[in-house]
Amino acid sequence: MKTPLSSSPSSSSSLLRKARLSPYYLFTFFAFIVFATILYTEDFSCIFSQLDDSSQSVKRPTEKKKVKLPFSIGRTEEGCDVFSGKWVWDEENHPLYEESECPYIQPQLTCQEHGRPEKGYQFWRWQPHGCSLPSFNATLMLETLRGKRMMFVGDSLNRGQYVSMVCLLHRLLPEESKSMKTNGSLTIFTAKDYNATIEFYWAPFLLESNSDDAVIHRITDRLVRRGSINKHGRYWKGADILVFNTYLWWMTGLNFKILQGSFDDEVKDIVELSTEDAYRMGMKSMLRWVRKNMDPKRTRVFFASMSPSHQKSIDWGGEPNGNCYNQTTMISDPSYWGSDTRKSIMQVIGEVFSKSKSPITFLNITQLSSYRKDAHTSIYKKQWGPLTPEQLANPVSYADCVHWCLPGLQDTWNELLFAKLFYP
Ligand SMILES: *[C@@H]1O[C@H](CO)[C@@H](O)[C@H](O)[C@H]1NC(C)=O
Ligand SMILES: *[C@@H]1O[C@H](CO)[C@@H](O)[C@H](O)[C@H]1NC(C)=O
Ligand SMILES: *[C@@H]1O[C@H](CO)[C@@H](O)[C@H](O)[C@H]1NC(C)=O
Ligand SMILES: *[C@@H]1O[C@H](CO)[C@@H](O)[C@H](O)[C@H]1NC(C)=O
Ligand SMILES: *[C@@H]1O[C@H](CO)[C@@H](O)[C@H](O)[C@H]1NC(C)=O
Repeated sequence: MKTPLSSSPSSSSSLLRKARLSPYYLFTFFAFIVFATILYTEDFSCIFSQLDDSSQSVKRPTEKKKVKLPFSIGRTEEGCDVFSGKWVWDEENHPLYEESECPYIQPQLTCQEHGRPEKGYQFWRWQPHGCSLPSFNATLMLETLRGKRMMFVGDSLNRGQYVSMVCLLHRLLPEESKSMKTNGSLTIFTAKDYNATIEFYWAPFLLESNSDDAVIHRITDRLVRRGSINKHGRYWKGADILVFNTYLWWMTGLNFKILQGSFDDEVKDIVELSTEDAYRMGMKSMLRWVRKNMDPKRTRVFFASMSPSHQKSIDWGGEPNGNCYNQTTMISDPSYWGSDTRKSIMQVIGEVFSKSKSPITFLNITQLSSYRKDAHTSIYKKQWGPLTPEQLANPVSYADCVHWCLPGLQDTWNELLFAKLFYP
């Protein structure tokens, strides 16, 4: 059955035309409006509106009346996909804070401090095609977090978004009433006067893995243990707003090794899965965990899609052997997507989410970020170790085309998170 939500604009306008014909159709039309309004407040609409037509016919688990989502104070214009749009230059309102003003940015992301000669990447605003984003209101965000926990869980890219969120909020707090502490995998920013915390938990696969040490995790032979999400998940319980990501660590370029037993087993039971199947297993674990542990009446859960890297300039028609190094303009081809794995992983996400009953709001940041080859930290960051003369002679060889300068692109991810939290 086709539901009102999957109606295209043309089908609703044909309803309108019919509505002029008879009272019966008038009634149908208003019933449709009421039904669509109710459905619209559901999280599923966020996910389903971004799926292609084939997945829209998947039977929705909760097509019944439901109260509005926690934290929402309004709604985005119907039919507007905030993730579909374009970048516009906005020197007036961006960046949302200065690099030097936010002491919480790790030195791997402070590009100006590390010699980046220009600031163009800081001035872009995301403009959805169908509507405008609400402006980020730090007061509203902090008031909402009063007495609450907001937690980001995932890898270093999610840590970047976490730090961006802290930078967006900390100015409202006096020096003595805020702190940031790290203990192992958990970093906690406390806003004392608000009794609020914004936290980051390092779990690059969400499940237990041999890369879980928050400091020493550069393992080439990666191993993830099946069914082990509670190992980390116990630290996420009680969060009011959760933001997950996981992607890059699954991308080994080879089949992925999954541990069936325990890391302590003398003879390890290991199976190899395709990247997509391994990732699917991780996604399903996350969704199951959310269903069992998060109360949809009180909490919100977000999942951020893949953060794209820019390792090969031939991908966007640049000169051979280049990467994001020395890139100060974005990719202008609106259909640019990048690697094929990104496409197949997006497909896995779409499949898994469309079958899921977990109310997770999807932050589809991949496409809008894929244009931003100008926004990476490149060589303008604190290096982990000294560079060799060969490297220094060839900056392309050590440019970081994965992570993003702050302020910058990841502030936009939080503007989108803000939009989806308050205006779903
Ligand atoms: C931001 O949110 C606060 C608290 O809800 C509100 O009082 C204020 O008017 C908002 N500011 C803007 C510019 O909308
Ligand atoms: C502070 O927030 C926590 C939840 O994060 C809550 O359990 C506690 O009761 C709050 N304390 C006060 C004094 O409001
Ligand atoms: C750090 O975390 C460990 C384990 O979670 C805990 O036992 C320890 O007390 C914590 N240390 C501090 C200083 O909070
Ligand atoms: C950086 O790019 C500009 C053109 O955008 C080029 O003129 C310059 O030679 C490049 N610099 C390096 C060091 O590659
Ligand atoms: C995310 O957005 C891209 C580009 O708009 C789209 O191709 C993709 O299908 C979306 N993914 C999901 C799972 O909705």
